[in-house]
Amino acid sequence: MLCVCRCQTVLELDLSKPSLGSDLSIVLPSLSIQDMNNLEEGVEFLPAMNTKKMEKRGPKRRVVVAILVIAFLLISLVTGLLVWHFKCECDVKLTWDGGMHWEHNPAIVGLEELHYQVLLTCDLSTKCNSSQRLQKAESPFLPHHWRSAVPQSLEGSVIAYYFSEFVVPKYREEELDRAMADKQNLVQRLNPRLRNPTLKVESVIAFREYSCLFALHAKEGEITSFTTPGFPHSPYPNNARCYWALRADANSIISLTFKTLDLEQCTDSSDYIKVYNSLSPVEPHALVRLCGNYAPSYNLTFLSSQNVMLVTLITNKEGRFPGFKAEFFQLPKMKVCGGTLRGVSGTFTTPYYPAHYPPATDCVWNIEVPSKKNVKVRFNMFFVLEPGVPVTSCTKDYVQINNTRYCGERSQFVVASSTNKIAVQFHSDRSYTDTGFSAEYLSYDSNDPCPGKFACNTGRCIEKSMRCDGWLDCVDGSDERSCTCTDQQFKCQNGWCKPKFWLCDNVNDCGDNSDELQCSCANNSFKCSNGKCIPSTQKCDGKDDCGDGSDEGTCSKVACQAYTYKCRNGLCISKQNPECDGQKDCEDNSDEDNCNCGTRSYIKKSRIVGGQNSEMGEWPWQVSLHAKSQGHVCGASLISETWLVSAAHCFLQIQGIRYSDVSLWTAYLGLTNQSKRNDANVQTRQIKRIISHPYFNDYTYDYDIAVLELQSPVTFSSVVQPICLPDSTHNFPVGKDLWVTGWGATVEGGSGSIILQKAEIRIINQTICNQLLTDQLTQRMMCVGVLTGGVDACQGDSGGPLVSVEDSGRMFLAGVVSWGDGCAQRNKPGVYSRLTALRTWIKEQTGL
Ligand code: ARG
Repeated sequence: MLCVCRCQTVLELDLSKPSLGSDLSIVLPSLSIQDMNNLEEGVEFLPAMNTKKMEKRGPKRRVVVAILVIAFLLISLVTGLLVWHFKCECDVKLTWDGGMHWEHNPAIVGLEELHYQVLLTCDLSTKCNSSQRLQKAESPFLPHHWRSAVPQSLEGSVIAYYFSEFVVPKYREEELDRAMADKQNLVQRLNPRLRNPTLKVESVIAFREYSCLFALHAKEGEITSFTTPGFPHSPYPNNARCYWALRADANSIISLTFKTLDLEQCTDSSDYIKVYNSLSPVEPHALVRLCGNYAPSYNLTFLSSQNVMLVTLITNKEGRFPGFKAEFFQLPKMKVCGGTLRGVSGTFTTPYYPAHYPPATDCVWNIEVPSKKNVKVRFNMFFVLEPGVPVTSCTKDYVQINNTRYCGERSQFVVASSTNKIAVQFHSDRSYTDTGFSAEYLSYDSNDPCPGKFACNTGRCIEKSMRCDGWLDCVDGSDERSCTCTDQQFKCQNGWCKPKFWLCDNVNDCGDNSDELQCSCANNSFKCSNGKCIPSTQKCDGKDDCGDGSDEGTCSKVACQAYTYKCRNGLCISKQNPECDGQKDCEDNSDEDNCNCGTRSYIKKSRIVGGQNSEMGEWPWQVSLHAKSQGHVCGASLISETWLVSAAHCFLQIQGIRYSDVSLWTAYLGLTNQSKRNDANVQTRQIKRIISHPYFNDYTYDYDIAVLELQSPVTFSSVVQPICLPDSTHNFPVGKDLWVTGWGATVEGGSGSIILQKAEIRIINQTICNQLLTDQLTQRMMCVGVLTGGVDACQGDSGGPLVSVEDSGRMFLAGVVSWGDGCAQRNKPGVYSRLTALRTWIKEQTGL
């Protein structure tokens, strides 16, 4: 039998680094140099066959030779199997990462950059290691491989990080796991080895995983980047535990930014990244846990409070994603935070805003305005959120003004002082940070805190027209209190006044639902979705008594009607809006066909971008139609790789220009910022055909719809995706909030905007709207807007999408921007082409 086996032990001591001296010898397993000499790689040949016997001649020779040959073959086979067996068993490599806490030791705390490196890999394959060697090592299960251990002050104790790597035969794997899991035992084994009586190991953290470790040191004035293994060409590995230990010079801090980040969608057991303000992966130092994907504009910059940071990537056994690319650099440690602010007004922010503020930071701003004035602070952006901390307690990170603490995520708010001074205090604890706040301070006259405006009890100033208009503009509702309702309003039970149009619209506008109470129908009658009451007997009688089909909506047996969804097999179902809702409703599943639409690629959106600017990829079906030498003229929506939906009025001939000429137009897809049309992810297409609805009436704007065929198909990407088309029976109920987007004018008569804008508006009752718009509505139109004014589409938004977010999260095209009486005026909502009424025509033209 032949056996080749390898056994090797390596001991490397990096003495170039400052060490803990005798204190550290405690962590070395007791292997002497002699042991190591004995453990040189060896190759051993087993006794071969006695060849003399072969020389014998005689009749039995052939038999003997045959037996020998068979025996030889058998032995070779067994040998081969064994070699293969052991070779494969030897390959089991186990890794543990962890940290060890030492009891508080004043002599060591403060020694920040003590590196020591001990590397000892022990190959414990059965064949080569004698039991004797195992005994010598006392236990193979003590951490043998110590790497870059950095003792660090941690809440009064000292911590060292270790990385242990073992190569063991498979049969010992479980034993080793058990030993490593028995942390109590490890602590007991380690403590007698500590020669320094002031040291005592308190606890051990151990993980066993596939691991990849990187140690990076920031270079003066340079940005260092790193990525997940394989990025961007291949996804990160499964079952991985990757660590990037980031270090910077003493008296520096680290700024870390994830440039791109695309991980498995977040669940309790999904892959995740955790960043620590320490080299130890311990929860009290965790800064953030990241998973899923983030829009490019989402702020993913994190600051440390010291010169170390640890980035970990933990992946589970399924699903591999692209991973991340990150950058870091060092910055000098901030000396003071806060200070004295003087003058009539000014601004201030949390350190490094809008990056995540560093942990363990305290700042105080002492604000002082001229003596006869009062001062107030307005927080325009406020993100001081720590996971699991209720905003009522603010026990971790907070802003404190006059003994009141503020934390969490808040929309604009004001804190006023009745003197000319105010002190704003900011505190962040050791863990979890957020993007912080951006604030301004203003001086005001105590007799007239809001000149020309209404003063909320909170100190905020709002336009006078916002008082008693039914909308809560002051966070405390003070603008809607003590109001006398006008003719156009009704009084809620709680005293608030709301526009009459909001009665019975299925939305609890009063807050106490009193606007929806008087809407129920008498006994023995049925309440339709549009609010109408019909006798119960008319429900499910096969006739559309409600006018919106809702009385025939949920009936067990359904005959096909105008309002029932027709499956491809010709059968009809009664469920409302069954398309692409994730449930199989048709027997042939045709309601769930062609559902690759209406979703965004980026889940996490930036919270910092102000106003109504859209994010990159937020509305991936939005198209910008440019006319030659005019730039952006109209919007459109992408409904497939080659088809767009827009408004017919965009292609009328005006001032001698034939807008119906395809060669005039260029479509931009994947665009957010009009000045970045050359960006790599923006796709440009010429138009092959423009088909306007033949019934389009350029006087009434009835049938204001057109479909455009692109000359070549687009490629779907994170910023280019189609919107779902609703079935003609799809119900968009009155009162539902929809989103309209476009680069149109931001004020009536104004110029278009560079960044794609978005606005949330509400579907308005057709009858009421027809009254407001002097009977100009047809069945192909629908009113969507905010009756108090201020939010609307405008010139340049035409042809663009009006979308509805359905319960499944999928978005459907509900309308196309068509016309309006001015823009954003009170009681003049925008008018949109009603997609459901024009759906059949779209299908006829495009086949979609
Ligand atoms: N017709 C306009 C355009 O060409 C769109 C007007 C929409 N107006 C409104 N108030 N919603 O861009």
